Amino acid sequence: MFKKTFEQKQLPIYAALKKYTEDGTTSFHVPGHKQGRGNQEMKKLLGSACLKLDLTCMEDLDNICNPVSVIKEAETLAAQLYGAEHAYFLVNGTTCGIQAMIMSVCEPGDKIIIPRNAHKSALGGIILSGAEPIYIEPEIDDSLGIAMGVKAETVAQALEKHPEAKAIFLINPTYYGIASELQTIVNLAHAFRKPVLVDEAHGAHLKFDSRLPLSAMEAGADLAASSTHKLGGSLTQSSLLLQQGDLINSKKVKAVLNLIQTTSPSYLLLASLDIARKQLAEKGERLITAIYDLAQWARSEINKIEGLDVMGEEVLEQPGCFAWDPTKIVVNVKALGLSGYEMEKILRKKYQIQVELSDLFNVLAVVSLGDNRESLRKLITALKEIAEGRSVKNVVKYFIPLPTLPELAISPRKAFFAETRLIPLDKAEGEISAEMIMAYPPGIPLVCPGEKITQEIIDYVNVLRKERAELQGTEDPEVKEIKVLKKRLSMAEKTETENVKTHVRAI
Ligand SMILES: Cc1ncc(COP(=O)(O)O)c(C=O)c1O
Repeated sequence: MFKKTFEQKQLPIYAALKKYTEDGTTSFHVPGHKQGRGNQEMKKLLGSACLKLDLTCMEDLDNICNPVSVIKEAETLAAQLYGAEHAYFLVNGTTCGIQAMIMSVCEPGDKIIIPRNAHKSALGGIILSGAEPIYIEPEIDDSLGIAMGVKAETVAQALEKHPEAKAIFLINPTYYGIASELQTIVNLAHAFRKPVLVDEAHGAHLKFDSRLPLSAMEAGADLAASSTHKLGGSLTQSSLLLQQGDLINSKKVKAVLNLIQTTSPSYLLLASLDIARKQLAEKGERLITAIYDLAQWARSEINKIEGLDVMGEEVLEQPGCFAWDPTKIVVNVKALGLSGYEMEKILRKKYQIQVELSDLFNVLAVVSLGDNRESLRKLITALKEIAEGRSVKNVVKYFIPLPTLPELAISPRKAFFAETRLIPLDKAEGEISAEMIMAYPPGIPLVCPGEKITQEIIDYVNVLRKERAELQGTEDPEVKEIKVLKKRLSMAEKTETENVKTHVRAI
């Protein structure tokens, strides 16, 4: 048992790194650049202070596979901050945390209830663990063309139909800032003694302003993978896995992390998690309140622009939206006769503004710790200029809705490891996919391994391709071809996978 108490002003990992560099230690260990000496150009470009801290696991700096000193201390501080019982530092992104959550509760053949709009990393967790997904459908807002959250009734229905499911997986909030009824769903799941695993990639900031959706740990969820690097202020790829309650075996979580995480963690990433945690502990409430207010101001300014519509409070009236995060500025541009992809390109090329993502109808600007009135004014001015310069107004370019969710014919893992053939996407209707196709970001698959490809999906992908959306997931980088199962399903396989055909519709 780890008994020492720590204060949030401490920086255990950074302090250990600093001591190592100040000791004047002569290194005969990797990384081979030896604090920058072995690559002068890199030292010049990235900075000597930074390269001096690029060290590796050793006694003084602890070991991520079995933390006992400074990493353990830093993890304890992070757990305290987020109200968790355990925190695990991640250097392979939240992807690794999501895979670890699923692998910690599911063995091959176990069922997991999961919204179909989960990020591709969740599908990775399903394939790696061999779990069988019970997909639940999120509500869809056709006007915005985006998925909302899932209703508690939908989860209840899935649990009733599949009482043997090992866990419930939720997204809190979605990329677009939409949160489901987390607290109610957690209570419901716990009544059945089922753990709730939360993808909190977009939620590292939630607990610092009470106007934001409830965070996973506050709602009583059992595990949450949180991208500190996205909205908590640490370096890219550094994340946290948080755990509480008695439904999860922490030894199993550690064993899974040791299986899938690197043995050579970057200490720059680890130190950045520590430093971000300190900032959030000391100033989080003030900083997050300020960006919340800043985003609301920008939203009201953008809403004054003719032809643009920013997602606002009214989204709470949509089924499946229980709470929302206003720091995500979702600008609907369809009334300008533009797609979101076109708007993203204009902003990038003409105004040197890069948004987080675009889709057919919207662009999404993330407001976070590094923003101020000036950065947002630049965005507002650019959007105003673009809208005023459009002669075509109120001509919607696309009426195409998000495709209906396809039928799951065989488990994602079986499809992933099956014998496959490559065929043109345009001829793939009715075939069973062995790959994903998704626009990235947001990384939500339009089709997953094991699903039957529909004409609606093919048409939608073709529209995205025409819009030059960044499509990923297939072996063919142009997504003109797709890998499908070589053989048609035999009756035996069909019977075996009968239980997998489980899209639970929202009611
Ligand atoms: C909803 C969601 N979950 C998980 C991830 C994966 O996070 P990471 O990129 O840190 O691996 C992302 C990344 O964008 C995401 O948007």
